[in-house]
Amino acid sequence: MAEPPPVLQAEKLQRSSSKSPSRSPPAKEQENFQQTQADIVAHQAETIIEAEDDSEDAGYETEAESRASTSISPSVRDYEFEHGRRYHKFREGRYQFPNDESEQAREDMKHAMVVNLCGGKLHYAPLNYPQNILDIGTGTGIWAIDVGDEYPGAQVLGIDLSPIQPVWVPPNVKFMVDDAEAPWLHPPNAFDFVHIRHMNSSIKNWPRLLTQAYNHIQPGGWIELQELQFIVKCDDGTMKDDYGVENFLRFVKEGLAVFGVDLLSVTGNAQRLRDAGFVNVEEKVFKIPLGIWPKNKTMKLIGLYLRSVIYDGLQGIALGPFTRGLKWTPEAVEVFLVGVRKSLMNASTHSYLPFHVVYGQKPVESPDDH
Ligand SMILES: C[S@@+](CC[C@H](N)C(=O)[O-])C[C@H]1O[C@@H](n2cnc3c(N)ncnc32)[C@H](O)[C@@H]1O
Repeated sequence: MAEPPPVLQAEKLQRSSSKSPSRSPPAKEQENFQQTQADIVAHQAETIIEAEDDSEDAGYETEAESRASTSISPSVRDYEFEHGRRYHKFREGRYQFPNDESEQAREDMKHAMVVNLCGGKLHYAPLNYPQNILDIGTGTGIWAIDVGDEYPGAQVLGIDLSPIQPVWVPPNVKFMVDDAEAPWLHPPNAFDFVHIRHMNSSIKNWPRLLTQAYNHIQPGGWIELQELQFIVKCDDGTMKDDYGVENFLRFVKEGLAVFGVDLLSVTGNAQRLRDAGFVNVEEKVFKIPLGIWPKNKTMKLIGLYLRSVIYDGLQGIALGPFTRGLKWTPEAVEVFLVGVRKSLMNASTHSYLPFHVVYGQKPVESPDDH
């Protein structure tokens, strides 16, 4: 049974500002229209995404070339540079992707993509006035900041290997440089919600991480994992065997495997949560279109986000796994990426990536209580 349709954040704002009794009919029509859009997106993301008749690249454009940024940080000690990209220094080499400005812009775009897909929801776990929230691998901190705004009564802590979070944040949001795979120094039962998103290209030992999370979540508290499944899929036969994006993701997976990371670990998340002791585990799987091929406008926008996230990130995503892991030269990487860019811009391929949301609860009465 489908959930009641979620509401886009922009809509929420509009609704709260249009509560006066003198609302005009056009405002009501606009609200109905937006609600219908949210319904359609929620439905298509969980079933079949309807393709536009003529998948011309008419409505949206991205840059023709990928951007490689080599920004200089005032605190150079905290960073490493390789092949013109900037990487984290703390626990050097643990995470294979850059942390420079272009990568941060991409992470923020991913956030916009997911929030649009989820109709404005920052989580699906049924939280009840959370007090202490932990965001693991917080990146630019964009989710932590948004959740801090949503729950002003909660303390939010975002941890990451990279100190790339903004300084000016809501007073209830804090960031810390830390390795989530090292032993946690937080007190037991310290959090009532632990959030993990886009981390399956990073984490080596999921059972250990989830057990640590379990030990530091208070009874009745929740954990949620939101991850892309990096396998391109297609429901209507328009994806050819030699699809460049598929080859690209295969090499990324092989390169990360050299470092003990399983890029496709996502399908085991629900079982891993149960194995760690969580109960009431639920999983939702959405389809994120790759490209501007969907008919629905919001789906088209979400598809544009995903295409841009991959297109703009090709070099940054490839360099670590391909050169460090598979021992390619940077020049060979660039040559390979030419074909991948071409396939990404081909709107006649109706491909998508599954997106898995899994959440679970620490039992209110833990077995250790008896
Ligand atoms: C793909 S980004 C996701 C960012 C954020 N979760 C989001 O959804 O916007 C992955 C982040 O995890 C961080 N990371 C990777 N391994 C980590 C670890 N062992 N401990 C803490 N942070 C880690 C990286 O530095 C990077 O910022």
